[in-house]
Amino acid sequence: MEKVFYITTPIYYVNAEPHLGHAYSTVVADFLARWHRLDGYRTFFLTGTDEHGETVYRAALGAGEDPKAFVDRVSERFRRAWDLLGIAYDGFIRTTEERHRRVVQGVLQKVYEAGDIYYGEYEGLYCVSCERFYTEKELSEGLCPLHGRPVERRKEGNYFFRMERYREWLIDYLQTHPDLIRPEGYRNEVLAMLAEPIGDLSISRPKARVPWGIPLPWDEGHVTYVWFDALLNYVSALGYPDGEGYRIFWPHAWHLIGKDILKPHAVFWPTMLKAAGIPMYRHLGVGGFLLGPDGRKMSKTLGNVVDPFALAERYGKDAVRYYLLREIPYGQDTPVSEEALRTRYEADLADDLGNLVQRTRAMLLRYAEGRVPEPVAGEEVEEGTRLAERLRLLVRELKFHVALEEAMAYVKGLNRYINERRPWELYRKDPGEARAVLYRVVEGLRIASILLTPAMPDKIAELRRALGLKEEVRLEEAERWGLAEPLPIPEEAPVLFPKEAAPQRAGPGGSAEVKGPQGGRIGLEDFAKVELRVAEVVAAERHPNADRLLVLRLSLGNEERTVVAGIARWYRPEELVGKKVVLVANLKPARLRGVESQGMILAAQEGDRLALATVEGDIPPGAVVR
Ligand code: MSP
Repeated sequence: MEKVFYITTPIYYVNAEPHLGHAYSTVVADFLARWHRLDGYRTFFLTGTDEHGETVYRAALGAGEDPKAFVDRVSERFRRAWDLLGIAYDGFIRTTEERHRRVVQGVLQKVYEAGDIYYGEYEGLYCVSCERFYTEKELSEGLCPLHGRPVERRKEGNYFFRMERYREWLIDYLQTHPDLIRPEGYRNEVLAMLAEPIGDLSISRPKARVPWGIPLPWDEGHVTYVWFDALLNYVSALGYPDGEGYRIFWPHAWHLIGKDILKPHAVFWPTMLKAAGIPMYRHLGVGGFLLGPDGRKMSKTLGNVVDPFALAERYGKDAVRYYLLREIPYGQDTPVSEEALRTRYEADLADDLGNLVQRTRAMLLRYAEGRVPEPVAGEEVEEGTRLAERLRLLVRELKFHVALEEAMAYVKGLNRYINERRPWELYRKDPGEARAVLYRVVEGLRIASILLTPAMPDKIAELRRALGLKEEVRLEEAERWGLAEPLPIPEEAPVLFPKEAAPQRAGPGGSAEVKGPQGGRIGLEDFAKVELRVAEVVAAERHPNADRLLVLRLSLGNEERTVVAGIARWYRPEELVGKKVVLVANLKPARLRGVESQGMILAAQEGDRLALATVEGDIPPGAVVR
């Protein structure tokens, strides 16, 4: 049977600029789409914008614009935003499009003719920002529970959809399809909503009050209420009722939403589908809220939004994607901040993954003639071939953060493997074995890179190029050992996650800069700012672009650094290997003629003479020098 996958995001209201909360749903959907494509599924990924209704209409008037011009402009901003985050959607639907209007009117007519829509009078408490009526019980201290704003009492003639008629059916459906709504907690919430009568749903607004909407086909004096309009995007974009896309993809639909729109998706939408004779969707994934620094839901109304594009500019889009997927347990409310992003960037991306690639490349260039070595059996590194199956399961269960955690734990394991097998030492005794170790590391990286592709597509493509691996990948290739081919690696490759991309925190305690001596003397607290450590030279070579520089590879026990030192006049590379030198370990990295230097080693200089500061005796690399 052909593997097919259809994934949707909510369509976003065009009354606000895209923020990190919107970006999150979209990144998760893009991750799932890429994951399934990688796994051989025929995939369709839909996103879009929700452009009708009172709030949008008012926003347009507020901006002094014609509604159509306004929605065109803001919808375009969403599209640009998704480009900046590397979102590869297959379809983008706008509810103001003709193809959508036709479907909405067709479905309304069908449900009307079947007797499931009637005219009545509605009175209730309405929040303009939410575009919905609230019951007394739902309000928080008399205010809208979401926006904290006063609600208005309203009465008006509306058409109603006989939703209550389908309540029993829906309860039964949820009971026979226990994995319809996930995480589980939200399914229980829906069952609780359905335990009491849900009433009928108002599906129209008088055109006189809200002219900005799709007219009801049988009564031009009313426009369709936003949910009856918006939800149908999921089928109109596929060409319902007789489009090829609808036939292929609809039976495999997964909707992703935020928990604030659970009721429309778990109650309105299924009953609408049932009444219209359209089969149910397959799954509903419900995300929690991203919280601002004040611990409240990030929203434009509250003014606590984090701008995803500023972050993408500073850290790169893939770092933002990785952060959101790795940090947020899907379904739970989670605080997000630039601070937390920077921590992930430095620890996971720069120190673990980026550093692994850099040291592997350096060793391939030095000990393996700049090529991926001949394939050998896998040792403990081969356990990576079992990860894909495990991650498939985690992804199905929407546990993206665990999936990435496990992939990155494997990356950490590769770093440990290098530290334990010490190819730079092995090379002196048994170059063949050193190359075997390096092959396993490259294979490990090949496997990890496949698993990480959906989260960080561009960075992983770069990573694969840096190791001479082909760019096109399939998930099943992560399940086999020995596919890395013995090809040359490029001599130059950019640092994947440069630390200078992660701006240092300003202010006290955050800066690694040391102030100059004042009055010729410094206090102990100034000296204590300089972190000096014993480092063992494990490899050394001439700088490719500068005669007076050497590029040293230093071991600090549990980590390695590259340091560029201006000592080529006094030392030959080979006589440095094995020496224990003193490293200024907390110096900001600097680029010297194209090579990043991560610290500085100490040397004494007098006139034309220079001698490295070395450490005697049996002291391990990494030890602190005081
Ligand atoms: N237009 C409706 C959806 C119609 S779907 C047929 C809508 N739009 S929205 O722009 O207000 O929100 C879209 C999605 O963004 C919702 O799922 C909402 O939960 C999500 N988020 C908005 N702010 C969010 C956070 N702070 N955190 C997580 N998701 C957030 O609702």
